[in-house]
Amino acid sequence: MEYAARITGTGSAFPKKCIANQELAERLSKIGIETNDLWIQTRTGIRERRFAKTDEPSEYNSSLGLKAAQKALEMAGKSPLDIDQIICATCSPDTLIPSTACWIQYKMGAKNAWAVDINAACSGFLYGLSMAEQYLQSGKVNVSLVIGSEVLSPFLNFRDRSSCILFGDGAGAAVVERVSRDSERRILYTHLLSDGNLWKLFYIPAGGSKLEVTPGRYFQNLHKMKMNGKEIFKVAVRTLTEFARKALRENGLLVSDLDWFVPHQANLRIIEAVAQRLGFPMEKTLINLDRYGNTSAATVPTALDEGIRTGKIKPGDTILLDTFGAGLTYGSILLRW
Ligand code: ACO
Repeated sequence: MEYAARITGTGSAFPKKCIANQELAERLSKIGIETNDLWIQTRTGIRERRFAKTDEPSEYNSSLGLKAAQKALEMAGKSPLDIDQIICATCSPDTLIPSTACWIQYKMGAKNAWAVDINAACSGFLYGLSMAEQYLQSGKVNVSLVIGSEVLSPFLNFRDRSSCILFGDGAGAAVVERVSRDSERRILYTHLLSDGNLWKLFYIPAGGSKLEVTPGRYFQNLHKMKMNGKEIFKVAVRTLTEFARKALRENGLLVSDLDWFVPHQANLRIIEAVAQRLGFPMEKTLINLDRYGNTSAATVPTALDEGIRTGKIKPGDTILLDTFGAGLTYGSILLRW
């Protein structure tokens, strides 16, 4: 018997606190950093984002991941005990040890599962989905839970106005089940690639084993994100377009065969430039960054979940997921919902 993998349920969760651009601008102006709602909206498409209360246990990364996972399980009609594998994509874990996936497993009582974190930054959910597909195809796993969950706000450098306005916190999840290879509704194609040579475009210098956070480094904000936005913008437009074209070409599909395009949500101008190059209508491109900003590994699963729950995505629809992230990492996945 040949197997394939199919997403059977999705879910999302966000922190309660919504910070509109105006409120963020007011906060930044108190530390002498100038920005405004008009600049943020016109240059990024972001209107507001959610920031977790990091002293509130219900808003830890694992708690958001848990909520998203519970909703995905409910949609799939599965219980925590049905899960064989939990892959949590995150670059902002609750703790370095244990993994956020283990925290989630413990909190949900998924005691038959093995759990692991992966870090491919914003591409993490697609990397996780592709890895889960391999286990499901091999027959080693029946039910996989793939989560993209981030609490990025503690890693933002609020003295860098070009990056701190972009990000938000949130989590998305998918239950992925083993199905027969003949199944119409399944993951059709995955493609991943990384280019570590471009690490400098987006990184956090301190906090790993290479550079401990000492008081001096703390005051230099070395434990916060460093980003070359202009360069990432160019690479993102090029690679998202190339990965989409390759996915279509290798599956004998035309742009008009796609029902929905779900790109990583980093900047609306990046998404518009890619859609224009592909000749794909923006009405069929799922966007949630206006309300949540860039939630890294959570952007694709939350946008997908929103499309499903609002009834935009219908059974049998063909969907292209397309991403890039720090690393740099890239990926595309074609699936039939
Ligand atoms: N408010 C007001 N002005 C600002 C702000 C701000 N928040 N940020 C930058 N500016 C200013 C700059 O200082 C500059 O002023 P100057 O001309 O006087 O020097 C001017 O605006 C233009 O700056 P640019 O950097 O050219 O602005 P750009 O249009 O390129 O937008 C941005 C910057 C939003 C960062 C964009 O380049 C971008 O989105 N890049 C991609 C970032 C990204 O995707 N990051 C995540 C990737 S990996 C991952 O997702 C984990």
